[in-house]
Amino acid sequence: MNSYLIRNVSILGAAPTDLLIRDGVVVETGTGLSASDATVIDADGLVALPGLVDLHTHLREPGREDAETVETGSRAAALGGYTAVCAMANTSPVADTAGVVEQVWRLGREAGLVDVQPIGAVTVGLAGERLAELGAMAESAARVRIFSDDGHCVADPRLMRRALEYVKAFDGIIAQHAEEPRLTEGAQMHEGEVSTRLGLTGWPAVAEEAIIARDVLLAEHVGSRLHICHVSTAGSVEVLRHAKARGVRVTAEVTPHHLLLTDTRAETYDPVFKVNPPLRTATDIAALRAALVDGVIDIIATDHAPHAVEDKECEWAYARPGMLGLETALSIALDVLGPQWDLIAERMSRTPARIAGLTEHGHDPAPGAPATLTLVDPAARRVIEPAELASRSRNTPYARMTLPGRIVATFLRGEATVLDGKALK
Ligand code: DOR
Ligand code: ZN
Repeated sequence: MNSYLIRNVSILGAAPTDLLIRDGVVVETGTGLSASDATVIDADGLVALPGLVDLHTHLREPGREDAETVETGSRAAALGGYTAVCAMANTSPVADTAGVVEQVWRLGREAGLVDVQPIGAVTVGLAGERLAELGAMAESAARVRIFSDDGHCVADPRLMRRALEYVKAFDGIIAQHAEEPRLTEGAQMHEGEVSTRLGLTGWPAVAEEAIIARDVLLAEHVGSRLHICHVSTAGSVEVLRHAKARGVRVTAEVTPHHLLLTDTRAETYDPVFKVNPPLRTATDIAALRAALVDGVIDIIATDHAPHAVEDKECEWAYARPGMLGLETALSIALDVLGPQWDLIAERMSRTPARIAGLTEHGHDPAPGAPATLTLVDPAARRVIEPAELASRSRNTPYARMTLPGRIVATFLRGEATVLDGKALK
């Protein structure tokens, strides 16, 4: 295994120090370290963070390898500072059996750029009718602990209750895409002043809030763990605040795009801004940011949703919802939160690792910890060029925007996956 001596790095914003990586772990920190066998990295001005962990990534394999593969998505993740991603189940075939989750898990190991932890579907084929083989997926080599029909809501309350009961036995989690389907039929964007003006069918905030309210009550009743995907409204934050105050075992995520972009982007009719749940209002963004700081929202998750050109570059109504996220998430977090490194580490690494049970991730770089970390240049500014992204798709909403921060290097268990801003595989 390679050894690395990282010189003058600021660990989570602290005074610069040297950091020695050997045999997959951080063996020493301190000034003036030497190691003749180690590759030296000059990290003047760089900040070291625990490797980022994404609880919500769409890798599209199997089935839509033209949009992304486990390998290309893993590369995008490593370049974004990630060392682990949870792969959503809405593939084709759906990841609703032990066979499919093991396939995704194996492809992740073969790519070797990040740890790929498959999420299993809650219902067969995401159809919302029968529970999938949750136990078989949990016992498979992929050791699935999080189940989600993401892209679809588990709308049937009885099925949701059964799913929560089932996973309780192994402390599993149901991750809900909160969208009351009858309230969002034909919806194209956030329901509000802009949708009225544009004449597009609206997706009302209450469609999300009603499902979250129902599901926190179900989780409380059953005593199981619930996770809410991509929280997007101020009202959802209040429901979650109430549930957490009651001690409900609920966690929640917000995406970078819901922290930054408003529904006014739809005025361009550029489908790159079409996403589900939709971009909301400035009031929602303010509430989401405050909740991320005070902890009512536990984590930032990307909802990285690559789509092929023909699925995105068409009329708004026909375009698929979703946007890329892995290669820009840390920049958006820096933009939104500023250099609050401890908070960024908490919301993008430690807490998502803990929720997902990824015990090798989410450790601050310190002697004895796994060398699973990323180096950021906070002073860098970069212009986002879609053609330069590692993802196989191009649907970034940040095209030609200048964003702060750049990932310089990423290490997974002591091996570099990214150096000088370039992926090594
Ligand atoms: O915008 C979205 N895209 N929201 C989802 O829930 C699913 C995702 C996808 O798979 O493209
Ligand atoms: Zn979703």
